[in-house]
Amino acid sequence: MKKRRLAGVVLLLAAVLSSCGIKKTEEQQPASPKTERITVGFSQVGSESDWRMASTASIQDAFADSPYTLLFNDGQQKQENQIKAIREFIDQDVDYIILDPCVETGWDSALMEAKEAGIPVIVIDREVSVEDESLYTAWIGSDFYLEGQRAMKWLESYLQKENYEEPLNLVGIQGTIGATAQIGRSRALEEAAAAHDNWTLLEEQTGDYTEAKGKEVMEEYLRKYKDEIQVVYCENDNEAYGAIDAIREAGKKVGMKIKDGEILVLSFDATHGGLQLTMEGKIAVNTECSPLYGKRLVRMIDEMEQGELPEHHTYIEEGQFSNYSGIRAIWVVDNSYLVTRVTEELLEEREY
Ligand code: AHR
Repeated sequence: MKKRRLAGVVLLLAAVLSSCGIKKTEEQQPASPKTERITVGFSQVGSESDWRMASTASIQDAFADSPYTLLFNDGQQKQENQIKAIREFIDQDVDYIILDPCVETGWDSALMEAKEAGIPVIVIDREVSVEDESLYTAWIGSDFYLEGQRAMKWLESYLQKENYEEPLNLVGIQGTIGATAQIGRSRALEEAAAAHDNWTLLEEQTGDYTEAKGKEVMEEYLRKYKDEIQVVYCENDNEAYGAIDAIREAGKKVGMKIKDGEILVLSFDATHGGLQLTMEGKIAVNTECSPLYGKRLVRMIDEMEQGELPEHHTYIEEGQFSNYSGIRAIWVVDNSYLVTRVTEELLEEREY
């Protein structure tokens, strides 16, 4: 867009020069407009989880098959790195910036600089919280609060189906603090715990969306609360892998039979590995968070190139998976959501 404006200025200048009777030398001939490839800078959060790797692969693959050149930057889960990347993209005069923000706040200045440079910014996955929403052109991502509500509704339905009426102790392994995915999912857990008289949320700590930290946090919970934990709410699949390892190493079992002392694991993302554990019943319910942004982004840029303005805020649709046959659908507020049984066929066809 920006480069095309520049080409327009060059053409205008050439027309003025020729109307003044000034003969152009060969070097002065304007380059034919739009011969350069459109360049897109992508600032990714990091590579902390399987989900994140799938998101990077989806975007890199889609752009490799597109007419656009993608410049990729891994922020290593640090906002300062992502802000630096945005500034470098501006210096490189890219045509678009895609930002997956590690946390919600602190983006105003960098996005203002991009706006002043005339570079449209597309925010994906997590959201930015800025004073002026016109600092970015569009956001597309998950409804993380709804994901959390669906997980908690499934748990409530499961306990009802199984006639479990005893007190229930839960622990939470949160994502990166301040990320939209953490804020929404933690809020749903906290609200559900507060809404049930016999549920106690013993503690929440961050596992930073990694397997190693998920395991560390679960080990600490098991040392501290011993046999008191019935449910662990992991805010992504990698944390669930870590928590399951910690539970096994402590000599305990994961599963849905809480009455027999098993610890019920809830997880998010529904990656291939996560769904495998869901099929085995080790993760009781896995609420999907799709990382497949690549093709959507290429389509969005195609449309913007045609002069179309994308929706400013778009939620993507997501599923929910379990091996428990007793719950086919759950209701959250006025909407019903299907719960899909995980099968070998489903796993084989899974894109991530
Ligand atoms: O923002 C999406 C979350 O970030 C995913 O749940 C998690 O796996 C990732 O690292």
